Amino acid sequence: MKKILMLSLSALVAVALAMPAVAARPAVPEGPMKMALTKQAVTFNHNTHTSVDCGVCHHEVNGAENFGKCSNAGCHDALGAKEKGTNSYYRIAHDRKLANSCLGCHVKVAQKEKDKRKALTGCKASACHP
Ligand code: HEC
Ligand code: HEC
Repeated sequence: MKKILMLSLSALVAVALAMPAVAARPAVPEGPMKMALTKQAVTFNHNTHTSVDCGVCHHEVNGAENFGKCSNAGCHDALGAKEKGTNSYYRIAHDRKLANSCLGCHVKVAQKEKDKRKALTGCKASACHP
């Protein structure tokens, strides 16, 4: 009995701790949006990515939740396809080795769902570059 009480108590504490973090999350932008710094439009819809947790893409910065733009100063603000470092904007969209880059994740999805290969990994013919 004591054990059950303790368990439900710690569950309550866990919920209480999780609440402020969730409440602090900003509203999800609606509809297709253009990536901030790309010359040509890149389509990104939050509503087709609801199966992915916010934090996968909006990863923590210095241990804190972060919903800034990818390209904010000091973040992924190095432009150009030849830029390959951590700050590269091109890399965070296209690096196949990154599980949370656009293409890195899409390649994995398309391996399981082959009919989505062109839309998710087809470069210029994809749904990303309309
Ligand atoms: C699959 C990746 C992904 C997921 C999951 C995701 N987002 Fe985003 N989000 C983006 C991208 C990409 C942008 C555009 C960033 C840019 O233009 O640099 C963005 C932009 C935003 C912005 C606008 C930021 C600004 O300053 O204009 C907010 C707010 C936001 N997302 C909130 C959320 C929330 C809340 C969730 C979870 C419910 C979420 N996002 C899930 C990728 C994602
Ligand atoms: C962690 C996984 C993941 C990441 C990261 C991710 N996606 Fe996706 N994306 C998906 C999944 C899953 C789908 C939905 C496939 C379906 O159900 O048809 C999808 C679908 C899409 C589509 C087609 C549907 C639509 O909205 O038109 C576009 C375009 C797209 N993603 C763009 C992007 C862009 C741009 C980024 C990076 C800024 C990105 N995605 C990052 C998983 C991801």
